[in-house]
Amino acid sequence: MEKLTIDDIELKGRNILVRVDFNVPLSETGEVADDKRIVASLPTIRKILQDGGKAILISHLGRPKGKKVPEMSLAPAAKRLESLLGRPIRFVNDCLGPDVEKAVSELKPGECLLLENLRYYKEETDNDPEFAKKLANLGEAFINDAFGTAHRAHASTEGVTKYIKQSAAGYLMQKELKYLGMALADPQRPFVAILGGAKISGKIDVISNLMDKVDAILIGGGMAFTFFRAMGKEIGKSLLESDKIDLAREILSKAAEKKVSFMLPRDVVVAEEAKEDAATHVVGIEAIPPDLQGLDIGPKTVEAFSRELAKAKTVVWNGPMGVFEFDKFAAGTIKVAEELARITEKGATTIVGGGDSASAVARAGLKDKLSHISTGGGASLEFLEGKTLPGVAALTDK
Ligand code: 3PG
Repeated sequence: MEKLTIDDIELKGRNILVRVDFNVPLSETGEVADDKRIVASLPTIRKILQDGGKAILISHLGRPKGKKVPEMSLAPAAKRLESLLGRPIRFVNDCLGPDVEKAVSELKPGECLLLENLRYYKEETDNDPEFAKKLANLGEAFINDAFGTAHRAHASTEGVTKYIKQSAAGYLMQKELKYLGMALADPQRPFVAILGGAKISGKIDVISNLMDKVDAILIGGGMAFTFFRAMGKEIGKSLLESDKIDLAREILSKAAEKKVSFMLPRDVVVAEEAKEDAATHVVGIEAIPPDLQGLDIGPKTVEAFSRELAKAKTVVWNGPMGVFEFDKFAAGTIKVAEELARITEKGATTIVGGGDSASAVARAGLKDKLSHISTGGGASLEFLEGKTLPGVAALTDK
């Protein structure tokens, strides 16, 4: 890495300000509903504590827009962290001010503190310099392990680095950049991208950037239908972004020009609407009934995609193949996850962009069977678009 990492920083006896991404879903009873982001930050936290550093953890949760919204408190995350680490975590219900300063001054080597939601202050998302300076004053060195928020130029990800001497990447940040970076810069071939999800609009830049790098692109999810319409096919009531038809046409001709194999579904599962008790049928792509919509890829598509994936040495996956929240439309997504687990076992590198595809992999019980599941939804997407992530760019050069 060209940036400082946690291993380049003296931790012993020092106040280490650590930006983590504990933006986790909470249950109705206010408990952490999915702790994968907290678990993913443990190697960095453990290293600081083991080396006798004093860890001051900062994060956001949700989008409280500068208001102290109690339902977006990080207190439940502190509790979960405490049980994962098996040691007490002090939680302060603010991220700045006298209580925080006192707690920081009382912190002993090997101890850990979590501060309240940064976004209770709008200065955080405004990247306000004064706010950033106050955060920086809490630490003697800064470690950014919040890959999931690295695409935001906020006070705690970007601004803070201007007021602290050393800003380094934590272990999670390094791991994310290693896998995603390797896929873009030096993939073992064949390199295949699987892109799904509802809309082309969110994925255009990813498709364009990957087009120059991959050998094949497999398209599933709602966005496939705009491509079909661009090819002049009838798509019934399937999702259509009518203002993106021309763009879909351009993408198709660019793929042909670059000789990238651009695979669309051959068959789909159709129903009147996405609901658990919907009556479903599988139809060929030429035979979507006018009153029904495609809600998952069909078995012939799964077979074709699996054949392509079986040859792949590197795969990047972003976006589900269907409306996988409903069991009836989850098979395509789950089968793709299973195929990825199979090829990973045989030595392929498989990388899942965060968000829905990561949830699908977890739901299929395969989260330990793939090479890397990103903790960043928007961040991994922007990385795959080829954009520079401000939270990474701001770290100190080696
Ligand atoms: C995420 O969940 O993608 C990150 O935590 C960033 O959150 P944001 O989209 O609210 O900035």
